[in-house]
Amino acid sequence: MNCAATDVVVVGCGDIGERVAQLERAAGRPVRGLARSAFSAERMRRSGIVPVSIDLDDPTSLHQLVVKDALVYYFAPPPDEGISDPRMINFVSILETSNLPVRVVLISTTGVYGECAGEWVTEERPPNPQTDRARRRLAAEMTLRQWSEINQVSTVILRVPGIYGRGLLPEKRLRSGAPVLREEDSPYSNRIHADDLAQACFIAGHHDSPGAIYNVSDGHPTTMTDFFFRVADLLGIPRPPEVTREQGCRQLGEGMLSYLAESKRIDNRRLREELGVELMYPDLRAGLPSCFDRCG
Ligand SMILES: NC(=O)c1ccc[n+]([C@@H]2O[C@H](COP(=O)([O-])OP(=O)(O)OC[C@H]3O[C@@H](n4cnc5c(N)ncnc54)[C@H](OP(=O)(O)O)[C@@H]3O)[C@@H](O)[C@H]2O)c1
Repeated sequence: MNCAATDVVVVGCGDIGERVAQLERAAGRPVRGLARSAFSAERMRRSGIVPVSIDLDDPTSLHQLVVKDALVYYFAPPPDEGISDPRMINFVSILETSNLPVRVVLISTTGVYGECAGEWVTEERPPNPQTDRARRRLAAEMTLRQWSEINQVSTVILRVPGIYGRGLLPEKRLRSGAPVLREEDSPYSNRIHADDLAQACFIAGHHDSPGAIYNVSDGHPTTMTDFFFRVADLLGIPRPPEVTREQGCRQLGEGMLSYLAESKRIDNRRLREELGVELMYPDLRAGLPSCFDRCG
């Protein structure tokens, strides 16, 4: 693996951004992170990341962003409304010929595939987003790819399902007693451990000739119900009550229902075989206990 980048810039430096930043720092590369608040800036400083005060929603602040010869990890989500991603549009608008990065690695979502009736889904499947949330993600992908084709800069799109890890479990929801769909009504859902995702981002950032798109999933889909049951068991609290899909339509929130409206099994072969990612947590049985380890 090789990367000509002189430094690293994390755009959207939250949970995964910090994890990737630590991998980069351990490899000896300095890391800058976009911070839109004093709170985020202080958090980054404590982690050894140099904060740059920029808000992607404020195009005037973006002119301070120098990414020439840097490796950029773009992890900022689109805004909460609309079907486009103005943050990505603002970002690429400052990447002129005198300010070109060596590569951009984008986190997108497997939501762009839409409803797949439980089928296995490879990167070859045409996107078919069913929600505005997924349409915004696809719009971000397309904006970045168009920019990349014009400017001949390498980009890698990582399509990611539900992220779990230490501090990223639905503990609050489980303790609230909110119901889940009964197992037989629950569609397939897919996950990736946060540390495996960070590792995949890092490898995508430094691979000699990465492909354009990778699914970053653990390759062992189960159901949302199975996930909640396993987390409840490890927390030592009662499993949530199960409801039918009909009852769920009345009792589950809109956001949860939109996730449960789609069923797909995400194929991760390209990630493992082409990018060479070796997953530390290939399924929930391996990954969930690590979320409770003192140093996991
Ligand atoms: N959670 C999941 O299951 C899941 C699944 C698929 C994909 N994803 C996506 O994966 C990506 C990484 O996830 P994560 O857990 O690391 O997310 P995260 O912790 O929420 O981090 C996102 C970061 O983006 C920054 N950001 C948001 N709007 C910004 C703006 N206008 N200008 C500058 N920075 C901005 C946030 O800054 P502040 O710190 O200032 O808020 C935050 O640091 C996100 O895009 C997420 O939506 C998540």
